[in-house]
Amino acid sequence: MQEKDLEQTLVLIKPDALKNSLTGYVLSQLSEFHTGLRFAGAKIVQVSKMLAEEHYAEHRGKLFFPSLIEYLTGCVHYPDTPALRRVVAFVYQGPGAIQKIRDLAGPTNPHVAREKKPGCVRALGTVVFLKSPDGQTIGERMDNLIHASATATEAEREIKLWFKPNDIPPSMREYKSVQCEEHFYFRDGRLYRKHETGSVCLLAPGDAVWTSDLEALHRIADGKEAHCTLQAVSAKYLINETRE
Ligand code: RTP
Ligand code: MG
Repeated sequence: MQEKDLEQTLVLIKPDALKNSLTGYVLSQLSEFHTGLRFAGAKIVQVSKMLAEEHYAEHRGKLFFPSLIEYLTGCVHYPDTPALRRVVAFVYQGPGAIQKIRDLAGPTNPHVAREKKPGCVRALGTVVFLKSPDGQTIGERMDNLIHASATATEAEREIKLWFKPNDIPPSMREYKSVQCEEHFYFRDGRLYRKHETGSVCLLAPGDAVWTSDLEALHRIADGKEAHCTLQAVSAKYLINETRE
């Protein structure tokens, strides 16, 4: 298989799509028959605040950021039923995967999507105006049904954020992984090499780990700058953990 045939991208089916029962519709739009792409990974995730904030880290500090996090964590669409707060995450693989899925998703803003690209997935989304306590419109939340990686660099960061190496079959794994040979624990935003009361085990000997995550953990443990934060590594190894 040629290198370009292995291009991968992350797709998230967001809580508004689940609530409106659009999961099947989205999956048929993205099917192998329509796109020539294949699943390389799939999982159902109850999205933690840490994971949502890492996923959309580039938007930190923007006015719509808090509402975006509430949206991705499912708090907006399932305020009274935390058990239903889910996102379905997929890795799609194949020639031109990133651009093909961005094209099917359409423009970020559902109003623009309806006008410029009727028929795209996001044309079925909604824009919700954000109000200040005195009723003034201060921004917008775009409930646009799916996320799709925008570039190859972003796809790698996002796939490694949502998926552990073993979530992807070895023959479809595009990024380097190794077997961990030590313990790493996490508690209150700090990394530990030995178990501390109340800490959660991120990795143990024998676990498969993205090579880049292991490098980052070693640098963080040595008090050095790493290419990503401890939260970015921890968020994934704590996916669907109740003890986060
Ligand atoms: P995504 O990351 O979800 O695939 O969306 P995108 O690349 O098309 O757009 P991006 O700029 O990355 O924005 C991420 C998500 O933030 C919300 N957003 N709101 N109010 C606003 O101006 C605004 N801009 C972006 C959307 O929910 C968007 O999907
Ligand atoms: Mg984006």
